[in-house]
Amino acid sequence: MADIYPRPSTLTRHKDTYPFISPSKFTGKLKGKVVLITGASRGIGRATALALAAAGASIACLARTASVLDTLEAEIKQHFEVPTLFMIRDVVSDPAKIVSDVEAALGPIDILINNAGIGRLGPLYLEEDINIWWHVFEVNVKAPIALIHACLPSMLARRKGKIITLGSAAADNSFPYQSSYASSKAALQKAHQGLDMEMRGKGIVFYCIHPGGTMGMGKKREGDAMNPEAMKLEELQSWIMNFAKTALTDTLSLAADSIVFLAVDERMEVFSGRYLDCCQDMEEVLQNKDKILSEELNMLNIKRL
Ligand SMILES: NC(=O)c1ccc[n+]([C@@H]2O[C@H](COP(=O)([O-])OP(=O)(O)OC[C@H]3O[C@@H](n4cnc5c(N)ncnc54)[C@H](OP(=O)(O)O)[C@@H]3O)[C@@H](O)[C@H]2O)c1
Repeated sequence: MADIYPRPSTLTRHKDTYPFISPSKFTGKLKGKVVLITGASRGIGRATALALAAAGASIACLARTASVLDTLEAEIKQHFEVPTLFMIRDVVSDPAKIVSDVEAALGPIDILINNAGIGRLGPLYLEEDINIWWHVFEVNVKAPIALIHACLPSMLARRKGKIITLGSAAADNSFPYQSSYASSKAALQKAHQGLDMEMRGKGIVFYCIHPGGTMGMGKKREGDAMNPEAMKLEELQSWIMNFAKTALTDTLSLAADSIVFLAVDERMEVFSGRYLDCCQDMEEVLQNKDKILSEELNMLNIKRL
């Protein structure tokens, strides 16, 4: 591995949920809040949709695969009495309509969770069609930014809104075989830093987060995750094995409960625009607020002499 992951930190590192972000603290806290979450059919998005429902949110869940979204719908309806909307959509097609459909069904969006994301493993030189590389940017960058753009008029009018976007530690580390994924997540982080600056004082909060490492992104998915030619490379296979063993060992609850915590807790708003790592203890992050702000930590900047 070309870089150390996870990066050393003086803060407590969690691999699973912990008392400070316990869902029991947030039961009903999002009642009346309208949340749109993309990529809700599996993995972190699914776990987060359930955690949001437990917190009482009105939720719009979006993904492409009807069968798995149906199962989520049944589970939410069985356990929670919250207003819902389930949308079988591709996040890249017509984000403005996605937002207007949510607004029509549930009301103006209070919290947008840009979770849908894809990866592409393999070296660029084996990529026959460059559009596959570029499609990662369409899903991971263009769609979330377009959704933010579509949510802004109503959020600005109400001077209130939260954007929680799933970035990645890949933005902050240097890994081989994922040039499109890592650079797309770096682009998201940089965009959130700039959006926060240009909209400061207007009531809108921007978080770009690393959710921890879980197996979801490591699994082979239809069409997008891995280049079949590249998968024949022994060096790539052993890199993946090592990466899965060392980096994809956190739970979905860690991500889901951290996201609900960020959706609820107003003290975290001082970190708007910054990269937040769900593996870092959020109570300790708050305790280190002055240091983080004054030393420009949790920002994507090139270090130089
Ligand atoms: N898991 C990790 O270790 C990790 C680490 C850092 C960052 N992240 C980020 O966290 C987010 C979730 O990761 P995950 O591991 O939970 O991924 P996952 O298990 O692969 O799930 C991805 C979700 O996104 C949806 N999706 C993908 N493309 C879509 C599209 N074009 N339109 C609509 N929905 C789409 C998928 O549903 P359909 O296929 O049904 O559409 C699925 O619900 C991603 O943004 C990822 O980059 C994950």
